[in-house]
Amino acid sequence: MAVVRIPEENRSLSDAGGVAAYLATRGIDYERWAPGDRGLTAGATADAILRAYSDKIDQLKAQGGYVTADVIDVNPATPHLDAMLARFNAEHWHDEDEVRLIVEGRGLFHIHPADGGPVFAIEVEAGDLIRVPRGTHHWFDLCSDRRIRAIRLFQDVSGWTPHYTNSGADKGFQPLCFGPQYFPPSPAGA
Ligand SMILES: [Fe+2]
Repeated sequence: MAVVRIPEENRSLSDAGGVAAYLATRGIDYERWAPGDRGLTAGATADAILRAYSDKIDQLKAQGGYVTADVIDVNPATPHLDAMLARFNAEHWHDEDEVRLIVEGRGLFHIHPADGGPVFAIEVEAGDLIRVPRGTHHWFDLCSDRRIRAIRLFQDVSGWTPHYTNSGADKGFQPLCFGPQYFPPSPAGA
């Protein structure tokens, strides 16, 4: 289940309805897609993942005009991981949608709305499907475990190049993930 945080308003959303409703107002599609039992074992190949989720992938392709899908697999042992992450943790946008169905691990999107609304963070985990529309200013960080495996869908692979804004907006936000172990502090006296 994704968590949305809006630092400027000092608030968080963690209930499915609230998360989806907030993101919808910001033009971002969010869907909770239970990982479920798709017959996948730990260490399943990318092809096995694509086969296991083929019904969902086909549905998304039909809805969004996506023509191809792949699996991105990042872990602490990934070669040149820091260089890879540096491509995405600075504010940027793409000519096509950024669609991710998280299969394993976690990650953190920050969204910088074009209408001047507050920057907000979306922490995604396995079973979350997110679509960040083309042109949306955003940046992405891994969580401290540096692990994510996600199905990506593309309208045109060549279009998925980051265009950097160089706004510096990304510098003002901590890439904080709380993860499943996080429990908000109890109210005083509780
Ligand atoms: Fe991106």
